Amino acid sequence: MEKNMEREDIIKKLESDLSEIKTKNDLLQVKSMYLGKNGIVTSLSAKMKEIPNEEKKEYGKFLNEIKNEVEEKINLLLNSITERELNEKLLSEKIDITLPGRKIKTGSLHPMTRVTEEFEDLFVSMGYTVYSGPEVESDENCFQKLNIPKGHPARDSQDTFYLKDEFERFLLRSQTSTAQARAMEENKEKGPIRIVCPGKVYRRDEDATHSHQFMQIEGLVIDKNVSMADLKGTLELFCKKILGEKTKVRFRPSFFPFTEPSVEVDVTCFKCNGNGCSLCKQTGWIEVLGAGMVHPNVLEMGGYDSKVYQGFAFGTGIDRFAMFKYAIPDIRTIYGNDIRFLQEFDRKDVE
Ligand code: PHE
Repeated sequence: MEKNMEREDIIKKLESDLSEIKTKNDLLQVKSMYLGKNGIVTSLSAKMKEIPNEEKKEYGKFLNEIKNEVEEKINLLLNSITERELNEKLLSEKIDITLPGRKIKTGSLHPMTRVTEEFEDLFVSMGYTVYSGPEVESDENCFQKLNIPKGHPARDSQDTFYLKDEFERFLLRSQTSTAQARAMEENKEKGPIRIVCPGKVYRRDEDATHSHQFMQIEGLVIDKNVSMADLKGTLELFCKKILGEKTKVRFRPSFFPFTEPSVEVDVTCFKCNGNGCSLCKQTGWIEVLGAGMVHPNVLEMGGYDSKVYQGFAFGTGIDRFAMFKYAIPDIRTIYGNDIRFLQEFDRKDVE
């Protein structure tokens, strides 16, 4: 009975001591107060020798129980304090171990790509499809089927790079007009055609305004009842959309072996609005396109009945438009791959 009282008192006191504890250190002090050398529970053990032999067993049991209970209560609190203190420490010591991210350098579209896409978008909106042919072409497609037989003087201005030996009849195309021959050949039904073909072409040229490699875009429309009026309307619209509504367009008679009649198309100089400046060599006009009605010979060589079908074709240098549009003075910078030049086009507002 007395032991039970003592046990209840001890536990009550312990509970009240524990309720005031704030830190682990406080708790360790309380622990030694109960379980240390001179602690309350330890001193109870010392009383063992005073206990009569027959009661020793029971007293031992009592000692064990109280010791266990005290230990359990203290350890429970110890665990929760340790955990709390650890969490607080972790929170207060939190450091950011991430490196600042590496800046991603986004590239930009090459000026030629921009202009090409702009042309394509415009023609696609008018019902054309984009067609692409190979850069290595046969002499037939590049010249013969375009009414330029071997020895024809029109070949002189389109001297290009030729393949050797058994590939002798192949060359690097000198004009995207090769697409005309190919598209007609590939159209087995010999029905209407409406294509634009952008791509690289090659010539034996090299100065500030001519490169041995440059880009053209070809247009070809073949259908019944196609006239010069359709050609004029299409190209006027094209020039105004690309260079601005104020642009005036002029058609001059010209000669291309694969079109008849043939025209060259000039636009009012967009730098001086037609008043005359160094860009337009004081004429107020800049030549931008070659065009014409598809020559009946070309239609026939492509398998079309020239009495039933007519067509018009046009071709222009994409480089020239890019040079005008972005005021690029030397065509060679377009192909030089100088990153400083390309970075000029990083800005989204370049348009
Ligand atoms: N292929 C011609 C050139 O490179 C341009 C052209 C295309 C002319 C289509 C008429 C019709 O000069």
